[in-house]
Amino acid sequence: MTALLEVNHLVRHYPVRQPGSLWGKPATLRAVNDVSFHLPPGKTLGLVGESGCGKSTTARLVLGLLPPTSGEVLFEGSPVPARNGAAWRALRRRMQMVYQDPLGALDRRLPVATQVAEPLLVVGQGTAAERKEQARDLMSAVGLPQHLFERYPHELSGGQRQRVVLARALILRPSLLVCDEPISALDVSIQAQVINLLQDMQEQRHVALLFISHDLKVVRQVSDEVAVMYLGRIIEQGPPEELFQRPLHPYTQALVSAIPSPWRGKSERRIMLEGDPPNPVNIPPGCAFHPRCPSAMPVCSQQRPELAAVDSGRLAACHLLTPTSTETAC
Ligand SMILES: Nc1ncnc2c1ncn2[C@@H]1O[C@H](COP(=O)(O)OP(=O)(O)OP(=O)(O)O)[C@@H](O)[C@H]1O
Ligand SMILES: [Mg+2]
Repeated sequence: MTALLEVNHLVRHYPVRQPGSLWGKPATLRAVNDVSFHLPPGKTLGLVGESGCGKSTTARLVLGLLPPTSGEVLFEGSPVPARNGAAWRALRRRMQMVYQDPLGALDRRLPVATQVAEPLLVVGQGTAAERKEQARDLMSAVGLPQHLFERYPHELSGGQRQRVVLARALILRPSLLVCDEPISALDVSIQAQVINLLQDMQEQRHVALLFISHDLKVVRQVSDEVAVMYLGRIIEQGPPEELFQRPLHPYTQALVSAIPSPWRGKSERRIMLEGDPPNPVNIPPGCAFHPRCPSAMPVCSQQRPELAAVDSGRLAACHLLTPTSTETAC
């Protein structure tokens, strides 16, 4: 099947000042450091990894909000055009984003119904009455009661606001929804409702999701495929059941060991990673994880392992795992 989204060797560097050096040459921060994946229509790719590993930067590169340093993003086989041009604006209708903070994503001065209808106005679709009706239908579909339609964002709860954001993101019938921590600002009791809603909407509208979250249980629940990032690279990728039940890469093993039971057996202990937290300005040579890896071998500090098929189609970048083929991700 043709991928809806194809990401090939994506790289994004930032020039940053070295600590303590006011006038010195800027250093290079490698936020995204050779990332490749593909996402079929209507499917969900979960993106996980510790804070600062490059998940949000990847999301912004995918949407064309940031230009890549190198590499490419293809949407239905064509490169995502440069930001703010007419071609990019046309494509943005098909690719929408749901952020962590629903209040920040909404305009405090406008009633929510107006904001849900706004994308239709921007693209010049329908009459005012038709736009209003579509917005109201969609707000009902995402579970917002009618008496909230003319309220302002600050008059709504966090969960209600995220429903408004979701309705606005869906009104142009996008093919791709990029969700960057869509539930982390919500009350735990509301999180499950918003996730269920997202899944219902995905099923009804056949929208593909790039789903970023620190909540591994939720990622496991919603994803068709999960990619684990470490210091700007995908170091393991596979179907959620297999990846969470039998993580292959030592970093994924540590990540999964931190998830509370029932998936972890009582005898299995949480793996505490040693060594300094990763610094994307000073990425260790070879495997970037080797200074913290409990099983590192001499080769790990010398040679960068490529993401390769290692186990029944699963992908991992680790010298401990003998590649069964030289095929790389994507
Ligand atoms: N505009 C910028 N200038 C310099 N560095 C940046 C910039 N934006 C992001 N970074 C750096 O790039 C790296 C990746 O950031 P990113 O926001 O993608 O991480 P993340 O995986 O989304 O983290 P979190 O889970 O905390 O949201 C971090 O080290 C961050 O400090
Ligand atoms: Mg982020």
